[in-house]
Amino acid sequence: MSLPSFLKWSAMAALMAQLCTAQTYTSCNPLKKTCSADAGLVNSTFYTDFTSGDSAFKYWNTTAGTVSSTSLGAEFSIKEQGDAPTIQSDFYIFFGYVEMKMRAANGTGIVSTLVIESDDLDELDWEQVSSYDNQIQTNYFGKGNTTSYDRATTVTVSTPEETFHTYAINWTSSKTEWLVDGSVVRTLNYADALDGENYPQTPSRIKIGIWAGGDPDNEEGTIEWAGGETDYDDSPFTMYVESIKVINYNPAKSYTYTDKTGAYTSIKASNVSTASNSTTSTTSLFHTNTVSSSNSSSSSSSASAAASSTAFSGASTLSSSYLGSVFVVALVTMATGMIRI
Ligand SMILES: *[C@@H]1O[C@H](CO)[C@@H](O)[C@H](O)[C@H]1NC(C)=O
Ligand SMILES: *[C@@H]1O[C@H](CO)[C@@H](O)[C@H](O)[C@H]1NC(C)=O
Ligand SMILES: *[C@@H]1O[C@H](CO)[C@@H](O)[C@H](O)[C@H]1NC(C)=O
Ligand SMILES: *[C@@H]1O[C@H](CO)[C@@H](O)[C@H](O)[C@H]1NC(C)=O
Ligand SMILES: *[C@@H]1O[C@H](CO)[C@@H](O)[C@H](O)[C@H]1NC(C)=O
Ligand SMILES: *[C@@H]1O[C@H](CO)[C@@H](O)[C@H](O)[C@H]1NC(C)=O
Ligand SMILES: *[C@@H]1O[C@H](CO)[C@@H](O)[C@H](O)[C@H]1NC(C)=O
Ligand SMILES: *[C@@H]1O[C@H](CO)[C@@H](O)[C@H](O)[C@H]1NC(C)=O
Repeated sequence: MSLPSFLKWSAMAALMAQLCTAQTYTSCNPLKKTCSADAGLVNSTFYTDFTSGDSAFKYWNTTAGTVSSTSLGAEFSIKEQGDAPTIQSDFYIFFGYVEMKMRAANGTGIVSTLVIESDDLDELDWEQVSSYDNQIQTNYFGKGNTTSYDRATTVTVSTPEETFHTYAINWTSSKTEWLVDGSVVRTLNYADALDGENYPQTPSRIKIGIWAGGDPDNEEGTIEWAGGETDYDDSPFTMYVESIKVINYNPAKSYTYTDKTGAYTSIKASNVSTASNSTTSTTSLFHTNTVSSSNSSSSSSSASAAASSTAFSGASTLSSSYLGSVFVVALVTMATGMIRI
């Protein structure tokens, strides 16, 4: 059975946005290609108060629909079939603590989600399914492996659709904890995830959104998981996110996959600007940076980071937009497979 997936919905929504606005959509799986570096969060802590007006979205991109700031927080609303408003952080973190104050949506089959996801499809999730107003689910995936076994768990929580709760994920290289209102409700050890192979461990963005698992056009298994068919006559279905707090355990300007293993040990965190000199090599996509002029910085840690880091050539920028168009073709193929025609 294919899994119910917020990501598929996001991809669909991105595809629709693509068709409507002809924006460039880029994506690159570092296990298959050489990709440009991920933009990291340099600050070790980050906070967004989504009640604070438009400026709350300064470090967030809306990837589908419309999301606005209200007195209850960021409002994610499904008003009709196909709506799946979604935002994502414009930065990646590399292990960290992410906390969301959220009131989930009401209705049948509506899924309110927090997803921490990497370019090679490592994923950590909170998913509240509106059909069940006393629980929320945790889930994870490693390297896009969607084989369905016992990854998801269900956690009891009181009236998540009427009450704001704090849902957190404390993600380290050795274990991940999910917490509700400060209490750990699940622990996943590195070794428990197929000896680490399926353990989420690569730089990730934070994605927040809402989708209709109970959409009548979804697969039967998905509708069943969502607790029944969504009746859009009952809409709008609205999730509110009051705030997001982040602690980045490896703050850096960029994260680079130095090989195709997807292992956290292969990720190079760097504070060297990747855009500083981008017009040199066209043969090698990235090369070791041996520039010593970065010694101008006073901090010894940044000097050593410079010495051991990698820098990118313009070729990776070009290839990522090329890969973007290839990916769009893949998305069209995927969408065709998903929509019953
Ligand atoms: C990082 O910290 C600086 C200084 O406090 C602040 O101006 C900036 O907005 C922060 N960046 C993010 C992404 O929070
Ligand atoms: C995401 O948001 C940032 C900050 O608002 C902006 O600079 C950037 O261009 C946006 N990226 C995309 C892909 O829209
Ligand atoms: C995917 O995960 C399943 C279950 O843990 C495992 O049996 C399988 O070998 C994994 N596949 C790959 C390609 O890692
Ligand atoms: C959610 O639906 C239930 C049952 O219809 C209702 O009692 C409750 O007030 C609704 N909550 C919100 C926040 O609309
Ligand atoms: C996150 O986990 C680390 C390592 O176990 C622990 O030291 C830290 O206190 C935890 N942080 C929170 C906020 O739970
Ligand atoms: C990058 O700079 C930040 C802020 O100064 C620092 O906390 C972090 O450790 C640095 N990261 C690396 C990889 O040097
Ligand atoms: C970039 O590289 C070129 C050729 O090696 C050099 O002439 C130029 O000064 C460099 N620019 C920067 C900003 O380092
Ligand atoms: C870097 O700067 C330090 C302090 O100014 C100096 O002692 C050292 O020789 C410099 N290293 C290089 C490689 O330029």
